[in-house]
Amino acid sequence: IAEHADLGDFKTLEQFILETQSEYEHSSGSFSRLLRDMSVAAKIVNRDMRRAGLLDIYGQTGITNVQGEVQKKMDALAHKEFVLALRRGGECCLIGSEEHAEAIPIDASSESDGHYIVLMDPLDGSSNIDVNVSVGTIFSIYRIPDDVPPEEATLDDALQPGTDQVAAGYIVYGSSTMLVYTTGHGVNGFTLDPSIGEFLLSHRNLQTPDRGSICSINSGNYHAFDQGLRDYLNWLQEYDENDPNRPAKTRYIGSFVSDFHRNMLMGGIYMYPSTQGNPDGKLRLMYEANPMAFLIEQAGGKATNGKTRIMELEPESLHQRTPLFIGSPDMVDRAHAFLQGNA
Ligand code: AHG
Ligand code: MN
Ligand code: MN
Ligand code: MN
Repeated sequence: IAEHADLGDFKTLEQFILETQSEYEHSSGSFSRLLRDMSVAAKIVNRDMRRAGLLDIYGQTGITNVQGEVQKKMDALAHKEFVLALRRGGECCLIGSEEHAEAIPIDASSESDGHYIVLMDPLDGSSNIDVNVSVGTIFSIYRIPDDVPPEEATLDDALQPGTDQVAAGYIVYGSSTMLVYTTGHGVNGFTLDPSIGEFLLSHRNLQTPDRGSICSINSGNYHAFDQGLRDYLNWLQEYDENDPNRPAKTRYIGSFVSDFHRNMLMGGIYMYPSTQGNPDGKLRLMYEANPMAFLIEQAGGKATNGKTRIMELEPESLHQRTPLFIGSPDMVDRAHAFLQGNA
């Protein structure tokens, strides 16, 4: 108990940002303040989430969002809190959100330059909110081109390929709340200590195993999968005395953030493929696939749409969807071989 009670030696997120800012900072302190703004919003959403059953924030808003999905009250609340925090902070000139059809322009405050664009899924895993299962927030950060004044930034400036991301991250509101992010120099994870209200560095330089035994897919869609994917899923279920990772374990929470977080730590593959009827799958390129692709590549993994590296896709619209295969590198390679019929 004495060992575990020694909780004094963790670095705060703020301290870590300051110490590492020379790795990514483009102008004095602006990006560091943007990350701080995101973490403040995360704490506010976390606070509300922890008491969701006591506040009137379960259930639906009665609105259908731009995705054609029924919006939950927590979707709307998380969207509002992140937009407010970014507006207050003044480092961001444009926001794109799953819960808002158009890009949202932000007036930069006078003392900041506001050159950043934030694209976000404010609340990921909506179907799990009302039943007390882990949900999350996903974000992706870009810089507007140097010749564009912040007040003139438009959606076109946000439609950059994932390779241009300055940073990406997520918050998982799980059995503990964690913020995980990358600026292209590895992936670091911070656990919220609610007693002091700080995110503390708990997972330094996260790396995903080359392969693992976890397969995450909504197998209820099996009837609509391509034959190559069915063959891969069947192969994963086979017993092979020489393969310690088969038969694979099926784990599917239905909150991408939570499935991703577990798989990154333990080794696995998450798939939301194209199906008959939904050739582009379900997940959104700009605020779900790209940020997670950046994170998994920084952790040694891979992310593709079944053919092409996710981060090299040229975006056409804010809410566009893409099939997604993401996780441990050997598993994504193997899935590809099956999809292309040469396994
Ligand atoms: P969101 O709640 O942000 O709309 O995202 C839902 C996504 C993702 O979190 C999850 O993995 C997937 O939808 C689940 O979809 P299915 O229910 O079709 O499996
Ligand atoms: Mn949704
Ligand atoms: Mn989502
Ligand atoms: Mn969402």
